[in-house]
Amino acid sequence: MQVVDLTDKYFHFVSLCTHIDDPNEERDSIVSIRESWLREAMTKGLTVKVAIDEQGNPVGFAHCLPIELGAWGMSGKDLMTVPCLTRCYKHVYNCEHGSGIGKALMEAVETEAKSNKKGVAVLAYDQDFWFMHYRFFKKLGYKEVARQGHAVIMLKAFERVDPPVMHRSKYALRPVPGKIVVDAFWNPMCLTSVLEMKRVREACAQYPDKVILNEYNTWNKDILDKYEINRALFINGEYKCWGYAAPQDELKEEIDKALEKVTQQEV
Ligand SMILES: CC(C)(COP(=O)(O)OP(=O)(O)OC[C@H]1O[C@@H](n2cnc3c(N)ncnc32)[C@H](O)[C@@H]1OP(=O)(O)O)[C@@H](O)C(=O)NCCC(=O)NCCS
Repeated sequence: MQVVDLTDKYFHFVSLCTHIDDPNEERDSIVSIRESWLREAMTKGLTVKVAIDEQGNPVGFAHCLPIELGAWGMSGKDLMTVPCLTRCYKHVYNCEHGSGIGKALMEAVETEAKSNKKGVAVLAYDQDFWFMHYRFFKKLGYKEVARQGHAVIMLKAFERVDPPVMHRSKYALRPVPGKIVVDAFWNPMCLTSVLEMKRVREACAQYPDKVILNEYNTWNKDILDKYEINRALFINGEYKCWGYAAPQDELKEEIDKALEKVTQQEV
């Protein structure tokens, strides 16, 4: 296995977050949004490392994003962040460990970071689930520098550097009498978030007179700095989270529930 910089040959693999052998019409309909994000972010300083097996097939990738461009869950300076690191989805869902792919990708990230950064920081999770597990980063020598619930910032410093600061939501509902306000924070860097935004738009469009949808694209650094949220959904101020992309029918159920509440308050 070797790790290379992203080229057009592996662009689809990375854009689809490794799901190249998993056809899905809905995902295919939105992948161009992540593709455009990748191309734009790469002109600003994002680099992408791709792990390749002996046959030349891509088996994983990692994003190297300078923290100043707008990292996932944290702010700081002089650090590289890794908002996304993954091997092929089937192995991830089966919770298989020990391929050497994760370590090789992180070594490539660290080599990249050493050229102009003082360390690498990642937002990891200390929970019984496969997503960005902090034990993986701990094993690679990363140290916990901040924590909020299950979210943990793990840092490997090459020299003295201020640790990044965990984002804390600055969101507050601005209610509109008689209406449901849906505030959707989404980031085109994350395919799941793009998919969720599509479903939120479709669900809200079913209530044109009753629902006000406010969209916040958090790749916009001003929006990220103002709210300190990358991805979140609020229905009349109530935080809703499915982890995966919000299912269409459950979104509708939540809007119906909020509408019922508003109607009861008006009676
Ligand atoms: C993180 C990931 C790349 C690790 O894959 P891997 O095949 O275990 O990679 P490595 O073998 O290089 O891991 C290095 C070491 O960490 C260990 N490790 C990996 N994940 C671990 C975990 N969750 N808990 C404990 N140890 C873990 C490995 O077993 C290995 O140990 P070893 O050196 O003793 O063999 C993979 O689990 C993954 O892609 N996870 C999903 C990440 C994610 O959430 N991506 C989406 C982000 S948007």
